[in-house]
Amino acid sequence: MIARPEILPPSAAAIARAADLLRAGDLVAFPTETVYGLGADAGNEAAVEAVFAAKGRPQFNPLIVHVPDLEMAERVAVFDDRARTLGHGLWAGPFTVVLPRRDDAPVSPMVSAGLDTVAVRVPAHQVAQSLLRAVGRPIAAPSANRSGGISPTTPMHVAEDLKERVAMILAGGRCQVGLESTILDMTRDPPRLLRPGRVGRREIEGLIGPIAVPEDGDGAESPPPAPNAPGQLASHYAPRLPVRPNAVTVGPTEALLAFGPDRFVRGGAVRLNLSPEGDLHEAAANFYAMLHRLDQPGCTAIAVMPIPERSIGVAINDRLRRAAAPRGGSSF
Ligand code: TXA
Ligand code: MG
Repeated sequence: MIARPEILPPSAAAIARAADLLRAGDLVAFPTETVYGLGADAGNEAAVEAVFAAKGRPQFNPLIVHVPDLEMAERVAVFDDRARTLGHGLWAGPFTVVLPRRDDAPVSPMVSAGLDTVAVRVPAHQVAQSLLRAVGRPIAAPSANRSGGISPTTPMHVAEDLKERVAMILAGGRCQVGLESTILDMTRDPPRLLRPGRVGRREIEGLIGPIAVPEDGDGAESPPPAPNAPGQLASHYAPRLPVRPNAVTVGPTEALLAFGPDRFVRGGAVRLNLSPEGDLHEAAANFYAMLHRLDQPGCTAIAVMPIPERSIGVAINDRLRRAAAPRGGSSF
């Protein structure tokens, strides 16, 4: 018997094997430009159920369907002109759109948690593209981590977190973007940003005009319909240790996650720097990997220096707020 998970570099043979496993209903983790995904044949109810079980994810939290191009996306969701404009402008890339689900979508209803909408994404990563084309079917893929925890940006994160729950990991190195895709809900008017990411508000508005962003209260006062995107739940993306954002000092038993020049913040039991030069894209790419490294017993908390609220810094701060939120009943 082959030990689980098989961890293979993404050769043509490994991708072909991964595609066979997916078609047979097994779970395969694969790299995307954002984070590693835990893939399952979206049309196979048992495989989709196995994804929820492997993650410990509640079944009311829908999954994103991954396809290689706009053409296959249109077999899953109902696109109007604006949605097509977004597809042409932002795909392949770190962008997900929520649209009405097609009645004949080749996707199990469980994927969208029984909703009449579906989230679709065309990843840009070469390995993800090759795999999706080899399978020839839509693939449901949440981030390849246990629900509520830190998202994986390396194959080792996946192996350590999911262990034998995943049949195979395509080990394609570190993820370039490092934060999950931007999610835009196009079933609302105006369209609503559900999760900030590498694709920013301006880029979207440049293509389709004004959108609602929950924090700014501009047309977004009403809460999203339930069940909402659990990426929006108060506590999510959380390490085991408490997280203290906007830290300008660090205690002797705290771990410091610095950003930019950190010479004036003295102390800390352990220190890592997201980007000594203050580059927000480098910081995003390092963010989850450094949280993984700092989340070790022995420290009392992870103190994080202030991250500027611009560009992908908006998405980093979103994940930090959720990592720092109380781990109450809403956390999973
Ligand atoms: O970058 C990404 O998007 C990664 C990679 C693997 O592609 N995937 C990812 O999936 O982050 P996941 O499951 O960790 O996050 C998906 C988010 C959840 O917050 C979920 O609630 C939301 O998408 N979502 C999925 N379908 C939805 C729908 N029909 N309506 C609203 N939100 C939806
Ligand atoms: Mg996730």
